[in-house]
Amino acid sequence: MKNIGIVAVGKYVPERIVTNHDLEKVVETSDEWITTRTGIKERRLARRDETTTDMAIEAAKSALDGSPVPAEGIELIIVATASTDSNFPAVACKVQSAIGAKNAAAFDVSAACSGFLCAITTAKQYLTSGMFKTALVIAAEKATNLLDWSDRATCVLFGDGAGACILAPVEEGRGILSEYLHSAGEFHELLYVKTEEPAQLEFNTKIQKPAIVMQGQELFKVAVTSMADAVDLVVEKAGLKLEDVDCVVPHQANDRIISAVAKRAGVSKDKFFINIQKYGNTSAAAVAIALYEAVEEGMIKPGSVVVMVTFGSGLVTAANLIKW
Ligand code: ACO
Repeated sequence: MKNIGIVAVGKYVPERIVTNHDLEKVVETSDEWITTRTGIKERRLARRDETTTDMAIEAAKSALDGSPVPAEGIELIIVATASTDSNFPAVACKVQSAIGAKNAAAFDVSAACSGFLCAITTAKQYLTSGMFKTALVIAAEKATNLLDWSDRATCVLFGDGAGACILAPVEEGRGILSEYLHSAGEFHELLYVKTEEPAQLEFNTKIQKPAIVMQGQELFKVAVTSMADAVDLVVEKAGLKLEDVDCVVPHQANDRIISAVAKRAGVSKDKFFINIQKYGNTSAAAVAIALYEAVEEGMIKPGSVVVMVTFGSGLVTAANLIKW
């Protein structure tokens, strides 16, 4: 069995910073409420003309910058996004063209906040089977496009950005040692994007702008149990102990969720990489951007045991354990 690991990481975030104080001018909220309930201080907002694809391309270029595999060596590109620019073509195909990865197959996956880990798991299966040798996995979100800016319960939570990684064979004992993927479809109505039913539309009817609808408190509870259990599962599946884990990179939805996951999983919160204060919840991109920054800041080093864990609409839970 081939060992598949992450050999390069990349990120891109839009320039514009929107602080909690800026949002106080948009909805009835306060920096104090947002900070204490979520841990978020600011988020990035893409330019009007900046698309999910633009951000995906920048994250891909950033990953290729430090990659031993050049663009022409990439055989598979998967983009995880819940905020695609248009129903088709896939964002991955536009990235392929922009970076010149002319030898790749390319498609998108939709699994909301768990999209990056679903895409990594999918890519890994192609690489272990031998069908492809290398893969570029990207998570890119213009989540702010899906917001109802009059709904204070959701508009303060999300932000835009993208992250990427390159997967390739690595030496024995390294790479992705275990994975977990599970969906609990019975909870799909706890978090969804509301759009008008096409069947109800008359010709020439303007389709309403989609907007995120969320039952925050219910989600909070499921997020904690499913992510904590997923951490324990991947550690056990890899034949390791919780104390062997050096760094956990969790989905960045709420700092209080992360604290509760750490407590329930039995891993010190000091080992969790957290950047929610800077970016808010960037959906699938959150864990991808966090992975990049954990490497950049030296929390993940060669030999580190890393657990990535996510949770999101669907409800989809995903995790993996990587010997870096
Ligand atoms: N500013 C000020 N007050 C607010 C705001 C706001 N932005 N939003 C809500 N409130 C008010 C509510 O109206 C409510 O007021 P009331 O008591 O007068 O009715 C009060 O604050 C408390 O609201 P709750 O919803 O009970 O607040 P809670 O402590 O549960 O925090 C939150 C809300 C932050 C959304 C939390 O429930 C949460 O993080 N849930 C999980 C969300 C999540 O994980 N979502 C994403 C999954 S990822 C994906 O797939 C996209």
